[in-house]
Amino acid sequence: MADSTAHPPPAVDQRVQRLATRASIAVAAAATLFLLYLVRHASTPCFPASHTIPLSPFPRNSCDAASRRVLPPDRRLAKLRSSSRWRRRSTALASSVFPPLHGLRLLANSSRVLCLTAGAGNAVDALHAAGVSEVTGIDLVDFPPLVRRADPHRLPFSDGAFDLIFSDDPAGISGALFPARVAAEAERAVRDGGAIALAVDWQQDPAAVAALFKRSRVVDTRAVTLDGSQVRLLIFQSNGTTLNPR
Ligand SMILES: *[C@@H]1O[C@H](CO)[C@@H](O)[C@H](O)[C@H]1NC(C)=O
Ligand SMILES: *[C@@H]1O[C@H](CO)[C@@H](O)[C@H](O)[C@H]1NC(C)=O
Repeated sequence: MADSTAHPPPAVDQRVQRLATRASIAVAAAATLFLLYLVRHASTPCFPASHTIPLSPFPRNSCDAASRRVLPPDRRLAKLRSSSRWRRRSTALASSVFPPLHGLRLLANSSRVLCLTAGAGNAVDALHAAGVSEVTGIDLVDFPPLVRRADPHRLPFSDGAFDLIFSDDPAGISGALFPARVAAEAERAVRDGGAIALAVDWQQDPAAVAALFKRSRVVDTRAVTLDGSQVRLLIFQSNGTTLNPR
């Protein structure tokens, strides 16, 4: 029995091959043109902006922020807010950190607050939720929309710019490169009579931390639980003296 379909005549075979070759050349050409189009229309590539000031508190350009960001900032914040860890921290701050500050009249809705080592901005968010509108969050890495980049050793704020400087990061001051320098900067940026409130590791000697602050006195110390572990909240009030004139 002859099978004409299994082995087409050589002439037909060659024509099919030629057609296939032409088709693939056309596809390759179209792909090349599309690639060229993409290259020509792509935005400026991200070159390191080495000439800009590295301590700028804001992203130097859109590439700078985009390289760290997967979700848009607002969606990322919404996601963080829905996490139980974020909610636990917010609840702990609202129930055991803000009340003593309110009680000592060191925090009000009208206070200008600076959050140091703010991370993703949990404390900034909790302060907003508590009714404080003027809250600035800073850290070494910017994390929009709540935290922008600034060096705690060289705060980009004028003297006495804040009523309260707060850090809920127990490794905040001890983990700094120059803790005394960070303390001095906080004392410079807080107004006379304003407060500095820091969560510090329970193991850390509170007297050693207090000794870093030359123009403030401890007005309250209490144990608070953050993220399941006990930390010490040290509350200082700036007494406005200039023991260390600069
Ligand atoms: C502060 O703001 C919160 C939230 O908006 C509000 O519930 C509270 O009453 C305000 N406190 C004062 C003293 O106005
Ligand atoms: C201010 O604070 C420093 C450090 O705690 C203290 O030595 C100094 O006596 C205080 N001055 C006043 C007027 O309270």
